[in-house]
Formats: sequence, structure tokens, C-alpha cells
Amino acid sequence: MKINLNVNGVTFPVDIEPDRSLSGVLRNEIGLTGTKEGCDDCECGACMVLLDGHPVNSCSYLAVQTDGRQVTTVEGLADADGLAPLQQAMLDAGGVQCGFCTPGMLMSATALLSENPEPTVEEIRIGLSGNLCRCTGYAKIIEAVGSDAPST
Ligand code: FES
Ligand code: FES
Repeated sequence: MKINLNVNGVTFPVDIEPDRSLSGVLRNEIGLTGTKEGCDDCECGACMVLLDGHPVNSCSYLAVQTDGRQVTTVEGLADADGLAPLQQAMLDAGGVQCGFCTPGMLMSATALLSENPEPTVEEIRIGLSGNLCRCTGYAKIIEAVGSDAPST
């Protein structure tokens, strides 16, 4: 099935089986491996991307459902000038350990901050509640999101 995937502002025509997950197509057809696959069952948030600005678990989203819509992955956060402020805040706060959860955390936090630029700690916890960190770095991650909030 031929669809046009719009990812980070670029259109990628792909010819895929209708049951392919968005995460699989992003990683294996387009080569955007920043999006991680952990549980592959909508449990861990490692595969989180933004679809028309809203966070979705891309492992449980069919790629064909995104035809013509706007997908943003972690690769779309930085620009030519360098890391996005939220990415830098995550590094500065020590919120990255093994890094496997980091792309998903960043995408959920980006969605949260776009709707609520100055969230409370509780609101950050809720906003990231679908994202698991097996390195248990939650305190630093929450600190990073909070520290980036005023400038986002
Ligand atoms: S890989 Fe998608 S939620 Fe875990
Ligand atoms: S930094 Fe390792 S899973 Fe979160």
C-alpha cells in the first residue's frame, strides 16, 4: 500500500503492508532509529512520537493511519543550531543514563510543554506517566522538564 509519510517536515513515499506499525516503518523503512521499540505493546513509551502534535505510541499505531498527517520524531527536535532547549536541559540535569527511554520522554515532554508551558511537578509526572525509565532516572528527568518549562 502506497502512502506518504510526513516526518519532521519531509515527505517520504513508502510502499508498505497495511499492518506495519509506525515505529517499524520509521526505523526500518525511513531509517529514523531515534524512535525506540521496547515493549512493542503500548506499555513503555519508548516509541512515543507526535502525530499532529499529540503524543502516540508508534508501536501500536498503524503507519497507514498516518498517511498525510504530520509525524514528529526525536530527530525533529534539534535544528541546525544544535539541540533543542529541552534536549539540552535533559543532558544538563543528568536525565540521560542508558538513554533508551530518552526519545520517548522528550516527545511526551514536548507535547506537555506545548500545551502547558509552566507545568507543576505533579503535572509533569502525569504528562510523563506513559513513559517508563528502567534506569529509574525519574527525578532528574522531571527536573529537566521543569527547568526547560519557562523558556519553552
Ligand atoms: S515500544 Fe511502544 S509503548 Fe513500548
Ligand atoms: S535512561 Fe535508561 S531507561 Fe531511562
